[in-house]
Amino acid sequence: MSPDSLAPGSVSSGAGGAHSDSPAPALWWERPDLRYVGRDLHLGGHNLAVLAKEAGTPAFFYSGARVLANLRRVKAALESTGLPHGIRYAMKANRYGPLLTLMKTSGLCGIDACSPGELRHAVRCGFRPDEVSYTATSVSPADLEVLARNPTAWVNADSLSTIRRLGAVSPGRAIGLRVNPAMGVGYGENQLLRYSGERTSKFGIYKEHFQEALDTAAASGLSVEGIHFHVGCGYLNGQLDAWAAVVRECAWFLDRLPKARIVNIGGGLGVPHVATDRPLDLAAWAGIIRDTFKDRGVEIWVEPGDHIVKDAGVLVLQVNTVERKRQTDFVGVDGGFNLAMEPVFYRLPCEPVPATLPSDAATAWDPAALKPVTIAGNINEALDIWAENVPLPPFAEGDRLVLLNAGGYASAMGSNHCMRAQAEEHLLL
Ligand SMILES: Cc1ncc(COP(=O)(O)O)c(C=O)c1O
Repeated sequence: MSPDSLAPGSVSSGAGGAHSDSPAPALWWERPDLRYVGRDLHLGGHNLAVLAKEAGTPAFFYSGARVLANLRRVKAALESTGLPHGIRYAMKANRYGPLLTLMKTSGLCGIDACSPGELRHAVRCGFRPDEVSYTATSVSPADLEVLARNPTAWVNADSLSTIRRLGAVSPGRAIGLRVNPAMGVGYGENQLLRYSGERTSKFGIYKEHFQEALDTAAASGLSVEGIHFHVGCGYLNGQLDAWAAVVRECAWFLDRLPKARIVNIGGGLGVPHVATDRPLDLAAWAGIIRDTFKDRGVEIWVEPGDHIVKDAGVLVLQVNTVERKRQTDFVGVDGGFNLAMEPVFYRLPCEPVPATLPSDAATAWDPAALKPVTIAGNINEALDIWAENVPLPPFAEGDRLVLLNAGGYASAMGSNHCMRAQAEEHLLL
């Protein structure tokens, strides 16, 4: 948890709101479908303690309704631009099959894939190749063979090398170019989540190489009909001005592409991680898109991952160790950073909360009842700490603990380090 986040018991000024069966003030992250009902945390109408007892821990639970609601919100914002549009959900965020099939049957989105495995998996989950865009980096000859076999999948090429070699195996194809505006935006000031900026990155084609990229495409028999940019992950309202500047910068590429019909504005739309984060204002976001691309004759594609799945998922763990070591009260749990790497990899804040409160909500979250604890995972690495000195109601061994915002880049990035198994995933409908 970041030092400037409020205590978990802090009152929300946002979407949560008090509920009739929950007399305590709403916690900053509570919302109608994620809140305490009595002493138990519920997600999408399901009691997580009861589910975890049946399923065992560690376990991921995803709310299908929340995923669809998130998709619908993005779609409504795009509708408001008045421009033709499409959503390509970035399945790298969460590739759980039942969730992908739910998305497909909703008809709300296609898929953005970044590897042959993801492309095949999207098709296995019901998406047609022509509903899939493919945005990858360091593309191999084997990857290109797969693309050649799927001529209706839309490819965003991010290097001159890819353009040249794709043209050789799949000539005549219409493609997009991933561009790099040398500006980035992500979660707050976190540089780890920026994909372009001052430091030269591997992603996309820079301005100074763009004409050469167009010439290479023409010489390779490819027709460049779109631009694509994805400049970072996790941007919220505080970063919207910076994102608008990035979008305007990317229009430079569009100006030099007479046949452009698609502008893919990437993903990167964030969700709040701490009480002080303000959610992304999708109406303002859509306004930036409309102002930049109206009258340009282009269709807008967006490929969000996190914004669709992150706040729809939780990871439930069991407490196995409660012990004071020197001045630190440790709470040891049965899952470590191999299950959800972002807090360690990207230093993203992590919000641990009890699945079941020790008393009624008002008493349990009374600041006087909270005790700073350090939540430790079960991986033999010093960095395997979920959160340090986070004020929480007291835990006992055997209790269950829930990590919020675990729907994106958690299971999908999992490893079996220390031969610890992956957590089971469950879709809640
Ligand atoms: C090309 C591309 N598109 C979309 C995404 C999805 O990003 P996010 O989950 O932040 O929306 C990523 C994430 O790395 C990406 O690399």
